[in-house]
Amino acid sequence: MAMRSWLAGATVVALLGAGACGSPATKPLFKTDPRLPAPETAAFDPAGVGDPYFPTAGNGGYDVSSYDLKLRYDPATGRLDGTAAITATTARDLTDFHLDLHALPATKADVDGTAAATRHDGDELVVTPVAPLTAGQTFVATIAYGGTPSPIEDRRFGSGGFFRTRDGAIAMGEPASASTWFPVNDHPRDKAHYTIEVTVPDGLAAISNGVPSGQSSQGGWTSWRWEVTAPMAPYLAMLAIGKYRVVTSEHDGKPVVSVVADTVRGDDAQTALARTPEITDFLAQWFGPYPFDAYGGVVVDDERVDEALETQTRPVYPASTFRRGPDTVTVAHELAHQWFGDSVSLTRWRDIWLNEGFATYAEWLWQEHEGTSTVRERFDRLYRNPDNRIWSVPPGDPGRGGLFSDSVYQRGAMTLQALRDQVGDDAFLTILRTWATTHRDGNATTGDFTALAEKVAGRSLAGFFDAWLFQTGRPQL
Ligand code: ARG
Ligand code: ZN
Repeated sequence: MAMRSWLAGATVVALLGAGACGSPATKPLFKTDPRLPAPETAAFDPAGVGDPYFPTAGNGGYDVSSYDLKLRYDPATGRLDGTAAITATTARDLTDFHLDLHALPATKADVDGTAAATRHDGDELVVTPVAPLTAGQTFVATIAYGGTPSPIEDRRFGSGGFFRTRDGAIAMGEPASASTWFPVNDHPRDKAHYTIEVTVPDGLAAISNGVPSGQSSQGGWTSWRWEVTAPMAPYLAMLAIGKYRVVTSEHDGKPVVSVVADTVRGDDAQTALARTPEITDFLAQWFGPYPFDAYGGVVVDDERVDEALETQTRPVYPASTFRRGPDTVTVAHELAHQWFGDSVSLTRWRDIWLNEGFATYAEWLWQEHEGTSTVRERFDRLYRNPDNRIWSVPPGDPGRGGLFSDSVYQRGAMTLQALRDQVGDDAFLTILRTWATTHRDGNATTGDFTALAEKVAGRSLAGFFDAWLFQTGRPQL
């Protein structure tokens, strides 16, 4: 196809402007328009942000702007000690507030320098400052904590969070993992900046997200510092401690940190990781500029991590991803998430196709670029099978248990291709890029996406999106 030539052309840039000043916002699409705010009938809940799929995820009443984490991990004992300085702003008057913290006792807390009371209620840490906080007040809560971390076990999603390994630890997991290693407002709706300092015995690496900002050693321990400048959703924070080969280079003036566990044999993992800048540049031709200030990837070697995850600026890959060769399709998938999922994040988990459908579509684009198969072929092959289970699960509302179902990934990606067929290549590209720029560093919903698509297309796509995202049954072409 002529795709590559028009992608490279200057028309793309001109189109962007055109999309931005289109017709005024369109009317709600459906009776239960996903764009409409959740009914405000739900009472304020200090123990959840009100996500219908995960009512207890995150906490109500405040918004975090930054986490300053100082951690110390001893692989010999499996003990983690930390201090988290959390800067947040209240959304209402609060006599106390909750943080999510799994299996780790808090030992001390203060709010703006004055000691505060703490109480554990399951995985909720309740902090009560000496004086109530007033609406709109910015405060710093400093929590000292320590103990033996353990992952969150979920029958459906497997375990996520902090795993002790032979030589160190790995922390990662979607939809939740952060609360297993620091006190946090654990929902993607509350994105924040992070500084992460991890102290480990000399000779071990301590890898996290963002820009490496120095190391120092003292008394047999080395502190590794990381800086996450763009807002990050908590589940995208990662930690890898242990024996790793760490290679730092530069791309476009930004650091590339490529990390492979010592126990990984052969060169395939390194070979695949080394293509990170190239694949990112390829995706940037489609999605617009890469949204972050660092790159990289971490290949871990522990059977409990059996799926890759798009941790911000530095995806984690299980060694098994590269066991049959330097597979770059998964790399393309996780890198696409840097735009879709990481930079533009979910407002509620129901909209997960905005992450996985887009990342799967990026796999198809990459495979087409590599000459493996075309996007059209991938679409047609899936569409041809009327018995595929994807037709019985609406990707726009897959249910809590269907969060990572084939429908979300494949029918989600098909929705994008079907949209491209509806509106044409130019408008489709404008939609993708405008989506990435408009919501960069933010949160968005399916309703925001369908509204943007309609605005760029200049017509209603209500029936189209309803059939592809919200109905069971194979949509008509
Ligand atoms: N977002 C990950 C990916 O598609 C998948 C995570 C699946 N999570 C899970 N608990 N199974 O790259
Ligand atoms: Zn994914």
